Amino acid sequence: MSRPDYAEKIPNNVGLAEDRRLRRALESWQPDFLSWWETMGPALPTQDVYLRTAIDVRGEGWAQFGHVPMRDYRWGIFLADRNPDRRIAFGQHKGDPAWQKVPGEYRAELQRLIVIQGDTEPASVEQQRNLGATAPSLYDLRNLFQVNVEEGRHLWAMVYLLHAYFGREGRAEAEELLHRNSGSQDSPRILGAFNEETPDWLSFYMFTYFTDRDGKYQLGTLKESAFDPLSRTCEFMLKEEAHHMMVGTTGVDRVVERTAQVMIENDTDDVAALGAIPLNVIQKYLNFHYSVSLDLFGGETSTNVANYYTAGLKGRWLEERRKDDHQLTSDSIMVDALVDGAIGQTEVMALTGLNTDLRREYIADCSGGVKRWNKILADAGLPQRLYLPHVAFNRKVGAFAGIEASPGGEMLSAGEWAARRGQWLPTGTDKTFVRSLMRPVYERGKIAAWVAPPRNGINSQPFDYDYVHLA
Ligand SMILES: [Fe+2]
Ligand SMILES: [Fe+2]
Repeated sequence: MSRPDYAEKIPNNVGLAEDRRLRRALESWQPDFLSWWETMGPALPTQDVYLRTAIDVRGEGWAQFGHVPMRDYRWGIFLADRNPDRRIAFGQHKGDPAWQKVPGEYRAELQRLIVIQGDTEPASVEQQRNLGATAPSLYDLRNLFQVNVEEGRHLWAMVYLLHAYFGREGRAEAEELLHRNSGSQDSPRILGAFNEETPDWLSFYMFTYFTDRDGKYQLGTLKESAFDPLSRTCEFMLKEEAHHMMVGTTGVDRVVERTAQVMIENDTDDVAALGAIPLNVIQKYLNFHYSVSLDLFGGETSTNVANYYTAGLKGRWLEERRKDDHQLTSDSIMVDALVDGAIGQTEVMALTGLNTDLRREYIADCSGGVKRWNKILADAGLPQRLYLPHVAFNRKVGAFAGIEASPGGEMLSAGEWAARRGQWLPTGTDKTFVRSLMRPVYERGKIAAWVAPPRNGINSQPFDYDYVHLA
């Protein structure tokens, strides 16, 4: 069954109509979700927003677009189609049929993986709660809300799994997902980057580029899971995630484009007084978001992750395209490490180095963004370039957590770091400056001065379309 049933109170393609107990459990979680959305979701009052809603899980026409009051958005449960012949692609159960139920021996680990993924989804909605007040255009405002409703739906996706497969404990975890809050003193979100603020739109574009992209890679590993319902859930989430990546990629494109324009027109690097964001400030924001996102991949080595892989719970990025035995019991990998106190690498078992493998896939993907932003600079005739900082820069997790390094990868004493960090990470002054540019532009077809308009609108609509009706 691929087409969701919209006659149900909770739209779904998992046959909720036939499972009264599960349906009742989820329907009793639904009002809690809605009150969370009201108190922690987008703060800007709107009448309606031009949003896409999934109507299928396959092919081109999987979503429909229309103006909807956000409160009435049809958050639902959509899994990619089941492949009845699917077999486990890696680990010690390689070749066995994929699991339709949770094996008792892996219950705790699977639940933990789902909770950690689930926790990030509402966290980003909370982080972005106040951005509507300063949107640079109605187009951007609509994209923010689209990302928000879909992160809300991703929470539904994980809560469905908890309710359907993890009994009473799963239901308790589903409640907790609404009680923890981003940045809260008493009950913060699980992962560090999801407790950082997203106070301005440059941060939002960087977040959707770098941090949502971490999400893409995590989902990619869970899509390989032997637990088939988790795999199918993640497969469909990845389809939605592509739009979030687009918002980040083109968002940074447009900031760089505008900055380049103002630099050329005025023949200066110092564009702050002209209402654009200087390239060095863009670089500092990039440094920050990239380095905190690298931390999300965990330590360079992990026996937990090795065990998840061997058990079949979590695979590698594009597992089935890898040309090896998919068990990795006799392979090795070089991972980043402190070697005699210096930044270096060391060889470990491939299984324990899986976090490094995933982080490297992610880094390669991130360098694609830098390439396109540099092309914008080159095409404008500017010699300056953006770059990804060294993997040891500003790390709080893993081998380099205890040291300080420059973006070039040079080790620094605590004193040198303290003296120079303001050259590399946003300072209070930089943040205040960026915030000072953030004034809302809610007029159709208009845009703030610090960012270029997009090349294309949404769903073939023009840029000056009425994407959002404010209340
Ligand atoms: Fe998500
Ligand atoms: Fe996302």
